[in-house]
Amino acid sequence: MKFLDLFVTDSIPSSIPTFVACFKSEEAKTLASGIWGFTGEGGEMAPGSYQDREVILIGAGDSDEFDLDAARYLGASFARRLSRSGNSALVISRLEPELEEVSDAILALAEGVLLGTYRYDALRSEASLPKKVKEYDSATLVVPSEWIDAANNAVEIARVTARATWLARDLINEPAKTMTPKRFAEVATEVARNSNLEIRVWDEQDAQRERLGGLLGVAAGSIQPPRMIRLSYRPKGDPKAKLALVGKGITFDSGGLSLKPGNSMMTMKTDMSGAAAVLAAMSTLTELDCPYEVNGYMALTENLPSGTATKPGDVLVTRSGKTIEVLNTDAEGRLVLSDALSLAVEDGAEKIVDLATLTGACVVALGGEIAGVMGNDDDLIGELISDGSVEGESYWRLPLPKSYKKHIESEIADMRNIGEAGAAGAISAALLLQEFVGETKWAHLDIAGPARSEKDAGIFAKGGTGFGTRTLIRWLTKH
Ligand code: BES
Ligand code: ZN
Ligand code: ZN
Repeated sequence: MKFLDLFVTDSIPSSIPTFVACFKSEEAKTLASGIWGFTGEGGEMAPGSYQDREVILIGAGDSDEFDLDAARYLGASFARRLSRSGNSALVISRLEPELEEVSDAILALAEGVLLGTYRYDALRSEASLPKKVKEYDSATLVVPSEWIDAANNAVEIARVTARATWLARDLINEPAKTMTPKRFAEVATEVARNSNLEIRVWDEQDAQRERLGGLLGVAAGSIQPPRMIRLSYRPKGDPKAKLALVGKGITFDSGGLSLKPGNSMMTMKTDMSGAAAVLAAMSTLTELDCPYEVNGYMALTENLPSGTATKPGDVLVTRSGKTIEVLNTDAEGRLVLSDALSLAVEDGAEKIVDLATLTGACVVALGGEIAGVMGNDDDLIGELISDGSVEGESYWRLPLPKSYKKHIESEIADMRNIGEAGAAGAISAALLLQEFVGETKWAHLDIAGPARSEKDAGIFAKGGTGFGTRTLIRWLTKH
């Protein structure tokens, strides 16, 4: 799919199909002439008339419940209709009073439009592509003239954030056969060149020389060599602070010798979603003029079984010098992240945010739409939760009780890589990560649930969602 051109205007174009956003109300019934049963429910559509023109009404839901999520959903519903209507316009004549910030509402709407058209069809032949009735490559938002400036700014930002989300989704959806650690590093190098970032890539030899024992331990079973990647952004003036992003980049998680059952393995090409979100967010910083110095660390490897693979019972020496007994090779994310977190701390990060499809336990706890957030700094966690909520990315905080540290005690090493069976798996994973951040302010986002969508719905297409990308962008460019 091609990324849509999105325009803003204040007058209803006469030449293209026009959708009018309509709240659930008597007004909706009137505009639809009352004969289509149209009530204005979110996403509902019906022919109608508006200012003496024939239009398609599109439900915006209850006016007193119209929030940023509803705006995003409205944009995505409109986007999904473009293949039937061709290039079209969406008229938004009013927003409800709760949405004082026109720019946030238009941003959500525009992101909805730009994300709602995403499809991963790189590997489909022409014949198997969904039958399109109409060609489309653009859409137009029609807003009252007093909003034009705010709307143009918001659409400009939506373009950058949505394009980054597309990048993350493409990386995640590409099969592991080709999206190897080496390929991911090539894409990161391209991003660095286009976005004016510095890049350092550790190959296998560098990783050995620099004692990235967690990463190498996970990579031991694979023919594909691992990569550690660091992208660096510096603002023009004095940076407000030095921040770090860290992403789990398992390009395929078979579980290793602690092999996953077939069903659980089917979607494990998506186990690099954290690294994809980090790369995607980093790609926007120059364009959005981020005021912080930011390093993005991505730990890339496959997790496969073989004669050279790490075995349950083996002990890895991580970069920090701390040792980890690997009792289950499927708990590999925390091993690769340990080294990436150490690098971030050594480079002097003041705050670290890591993203990882870390635990099935987090999916059990919070399901497919909400990520877990844990960490050692209330303010940082609060910022991420609130930035995420503006972007339609939900987080729920889980505790990190000291008393649970005993869950990861090892008989022979500094710690072990699994907690107690069936008890607080998302928390024991995070407690292990905490061992590597020292006193640095840190938040961990367990995105195992929302990194992947099981259906086409709202702004999501089935497959990788790019979850976390927009939270990071807002966090890095808004404070
Ligand atoms: N990549 C998985 C976690 C995962 C599960 C992500 C489902 C997305 C959907 C991770 O590496 C893993 O396998 N974790 C194990 C840890 C266990 C062995 C302690 C898990 O959650 O079962
Ligand atoms: Zn695993
Ligand atoms: Zn994994």
